Amino acid sequence: MKYLIPLSLAFVSGVVADRIITVTNACPFVIWPAFFTSSGGQPEQAPGWEAQPNTDLTFSTPENWNGRVWGRRNCDFSTNPGPNSCLDGGCNGGLVCNITTGTGVPPATLATFDFSGESQDIYTVSVVDGYNLPMVITNNCACPFASCPVDLATSCPLDLAGPFDADGVPVGCRSACLVDALAGHAANSSNCCTGSFDSESACPSSGVEHYSYFKTNCPNSFVYAFDESSGTAIWQCEKSCMSEAEVEYGVTFCPEAAGVSNL
Ligand SMILES: *[C@@H]1O[C@H](CO)[C@@H](O)[C@H](O)[C@H]1NC(C)=O
Ligand SMILES: *[C@@H]1O[C@H](CO)[C@@H](O)[C@H](O)[C@H]1NC(C)=O
Repeated sequence: MKYLIPLSLAFVSGVVADRIITVTNACPFVIWPAFFTSSGGQPEQAPGWEAQPNTDLTFSTPENWNGRVWGRRNCDFSTNPGPNSCLDGGCNGGLVCNITTGTGVPPATLATFDFSGESQDIYTVSVVDGYNLPMVITNNCACPFASCPVDLATSCPLDLAGPFDADGVPVGCRSACLVDALAGHAANSSNCCTGSFDSESACPSSGVEHYSYFKTNCPNSFVYAFDESSGTAIWQCEKSCMSEAEVEYGVTFCPEAAGVSNL
């Protein structure tokens, strides 16, 4: 017994990852969560799964992981396993997103994480490419919550609404940038901050159509390319906030249904 303890500790410290992410489906319907790794190495968890209502799944990431987590709606992978298997959020690969190309089809609310910084984790709930599910990012470190906790599909401005399910119910709300991109105008757009608008001074939020609709409903979300100036778009958590335990993040879909309130 005397030697078992240091042996097991040595083993654990060799494989343990620095961040834990628990993805909870608090929606009253099935969703298909997914993640995509931008850099820092692949988690062991397959990047796509089915989540029944009121279930969660926990996975760990490499300590310098940079990636995104989102949810997919109204999926059927049986006939068409690919980006169009879902009404929104679908990815190359089908149920399990392709690790090189499976970034997800917008509109989709994104939880973005960057653990690669020296002293702080950075995270956002982004609706830059539109919205498809309410979301909050929680943590066990008393750091701020990022969120877009309310349903934007049903209140979405008419020119942004959709896609729609078979009953005509909206399951997403596109951003004005996404609408420009779908119309082939992504390269020079005041909504996307591209082309002649590719700087903070050339792309004020006042020039982004429907900015205030998103920011008023979801003040703690990342709404457009230069939204950092709002002070409530990009969130940070000191890596030192828990010196002993791991920092654990929660990504909860439909947080109001779960009684998770925003800070
Ligand atoms: C992922 O996509 C790449 C590029 O299309 C392809 O070469 C690869 O085979 C795909 N991976 C899987 C597991 O399907
Ligand atoms: C972008 O569009 C604006 C009009 O909205 C135009 O004045 C400008 O010249 C365009 N810039 C580029 C780089 O095409």
